[in-house]
Amino acid sequence: MSTHPSNSWTIITGASRGIGKAIACRLAERGFNLILIARNESLLSELSAQIHRAGGEVVWFRADLTNENDLNILGEWLGQKGLSVNNVILNAGLAMVGKVLEMPIQDWRLIFDTNVLAPVALLQKVKEHLKEKGHIVFINSVAGKMVFPDWGAYSASKFALKAVAQTLRQELADKKIHVTSVFPSSVSTSLHDRLGLRWDKAKMLKAEDVARAVEWLLSNPEHININELSMENIDGLF
Ligand SMILES: NC(=O)c1ccc[n+]([C@@H]2O[C@H](COP(=O)([O-])OP(=O)(O)OC[C@H]3O[C@@H](n4cnc5c(N)ncnc54)[C@H](OP(=O)(O)O)[C@@H]3O)[C@@H](O)[C@H]2O)c1
Repeated sequence: MSTHPSNSWTIITGASRGIGKAIACRLAERGFNLILIARNESLLSELSAQIHRAGGEVVWFRADLTNENDLNILGEWLGQKGLSVNNVILNAGLAMVGKVLEMPIQDWRLIFDTNVLAPVALLQKVKEHLKEKGHIVFINSVAGKMVFPDWGAYSASKFALKAVAQTLRQELADKKIHVTSVFPSSVSTSLHDRLGLRWDKAKMLKAEDVARAVEWLLSNPEHININELSMENIDGLF
């Protein structure tokens, strides 16, 4: 059963799997009304059906957030649905590894399009549906605070995302919109499967750990403004 006002919605990008899916499941259990966004329709509809069966309120929208046309249609869809948005969890992201001098520029572009420009473009589409009070949460990364060999493009995108969040926090200071960046160390998700690295997933955070942190951020008393939240596994960063 929804415990939040019926026209107060939380957008989660990259909700089809990994951290975004875990955030969706946790917030649905806590009665948040959800708008799930990602490219994979079947995963989105499966997750939405699961949330519905458990009594949650959820709608989903298939969009490639790097695609201007998809973003335009998403903006129109939000307008038609008349959904007003309290919280936006900007989670969709992409990791690729390669040396600064070797990674093809088209891969740099894709990383920046996905990790930096897509969240900004989405917020520009959503802003007219944003309520006065709420939260914008950027799922950043430890790589938004530190650099590692082979992770230059990813780190550069997450440093840029941190700058976006910090600027937005100042620009929205007169509204009651909290802007927070979350900086997890490695998290056990399929993001790592595509990278070909042999990291021990048992020593990573779990997607559910990040979800727990996000729920806590959204549930704090309104006067508390948490700018940044760093988290890592007690066994180390990765
Ligand atoms: N895993 C880690 O170690 C770790 C650590 C710190 C921070 N993070 C950050 O956490 C976030 C989520 O990562 P994850 O580990 O959950 O990764 P993941 O399992 O690979 O999931 C990525 C999510 O982003 C969505 N996505 C990617 N590109 C998209 C696009 N162009 N348009 C719409 N949706 C898109 C994917 O959905 P579709 O494929 O269905 O579109 C998927 O739901 C990322 O921002 C990542 O940088 C991850």
